[in-house]
Amino acid sequence: MSTNIKNNLPQTNQLTLGVFGFGVVGKGLYDVLKSTPALQASIHKICIKNPDKKRAIPAENFTNNAHELLLDENINVIVELIDDAEAAYTIVKTALQNGKHVVSANKKMIAANLEELLYLQKKHAVAFLYEGACCASIPIIRNLEEYYDNDLLSSVKGIVNGSTNYILTKILEEGLGFKDALLQAQQLGFAESNPALDIEGHDAANKLSILLAHAFGKIIETSAFLYSGITSIKLSDAQLAKQKGLKIKLIATAQKVEGNKLAAFVLPQFVEQHDELADVSNEFNGLITESSFADKHFFKGKGAGAYPTAAAVLSDIAALRYNYKYEYKKYYLQTDYELSNDYYLKVFVSSNDIDKINKEDFEWIEEWHNEATNNWVVGIIHAGKLLENNWWKQPGVSLILNQNPIVTNVEYRKINKKSLELAGVV
Ligand SMILES: NC(=O)c1ccc[n+]([C@@H]2O[C@H](COP(=O)([O-])OP(=O)(O)OC[C@H]3O[C@@H](n4cnc5c(N)ncnc54)[C@H](OP(=O)(O)O)[C@@H]3O)[C@@H](O)[C@H]2O)c1
Repeated sequence: MSTNIKNNLPQTNQLTLGVFGFGVVGKGLYDVLKSTPALQASIHKICIKNPDKKRAIPAENFTNNAHELLLDENINVIVELIDDAEAAYTIVKTALQNGKHVVSANKKMIAANLEELLYLQKKHAVAFLYEGACCASIPIIRNLEEYYDNDLLSSVKGIVNGSTNYILTKILEEGLGFKDALLQAQQLGFAESNPALDIEGHDAANKLSILLAHAFGKIIETSAFLYSGITSIKLSDAQLAKQKGLKIKLIATAQKVEGNKLAAFVLPQFVEQHDELADVSNEFNGLITESSFADKHFFKGKGAGAYPTAAAVLSDIAALRYNYKYEYKKYYLQTDYELSNDYYLKVFVSSNDIDKINKEDFEWIEEWHNEATNNWVVGIIHAGKLLENNWWKQPGVSLILNQNPIVTNVEYRKINKKSLELAGVV
């Protein structure tokens, strides 16, 4: 048998896998592979961290020496499924440099290093696939790469983090406390090992960064755009949402605003009951794409958990059999979109103390509610001001976007409002 494993797959396309990690997703992949013998992919060795941990399969399958996999010429695919982004970076980089194809689900590592990893896969003529890193079972990256290649995509938005969506569903719709909801998400394998990554919005921001690369060809660090998580949402916010017939979801948005400007943010948002995203509950994720000719598409699927994530990893492994690679056409074509924080958002801000709300930052305020322990305003604010100022991230303050958050024609509306005021109409 010819096994040209240096830069290409063996001629038989037999996939010999070296797997890093045997946690929720790694074990899930092991089970899923056992159920798909037709794939002709076999696990040669699994590298884990703790050699003393009890495992569901015999000890001879494991090593804690990364080199046993990275230097093994029989292994032509490295599957990286560990929970340590720093170590994952070294593993993935070495594997690509050693001419091995790589499949990963590590959004934190990918978002932080995409530019370099893209260069390495090109230089060493290997594939680097990571569908499981973005919305787990939803095949969004391949769709953005292939289907929307020639279409004029105007926005991608949705619920991209399964554990926060699970927690919000349990709190807002079933009345569970935050701690209990988080514990359940952890027990079910939906949450990251470090749950702060989920609940503070970092994980969703990492996914938005990956989506921006495939949707609009822009590699953008998460620190360049506005994001937060769900920790500040209060029971009173949930009650108000319920009264108004709305739900609260953590939503990632990438949207063209004016000309070549791209707005990107991850923030809690009110959604109407009839919105497709309102019915995306528990660990499910949902994404809506909008484009000039195809109009609107809605993707929904499980966004966390052993088998849904393993299914995406398996799909990447299967794609290697026909030499599939992401082409990053939009990135290499250098589309002229630019990330911009020069746009306006309609926001709801509530606080236990009115003085914590910086009213000066608002262009104008549309609603105002003042009670001893429950104060809230609805107003229009510049995204750049939110990025620069942190008053809305103080304990006791929550900021939730309006159902249609991006406000256009602000200057016109300001002039119009002023003239109405002068005429004594308002
Ligand atoms: N869980 C999900 O629903 C989900 C969904 C999408 C993507 N992901 C991503 O998938 C990856 C794995 O997540 P998980 O939930 O499966 O994590 P997990 O259950 O915590 O398992 C992590 C595994 O990584 C191993 N490990 C950690 N550091 C290592 C190192 N330096 N070398 C070798 N092995 C190491 C651990 O070894 P020990 O067993 O010895 O401790 C463990 O087996 C993460 O990047 C995560 O973001 C997870």
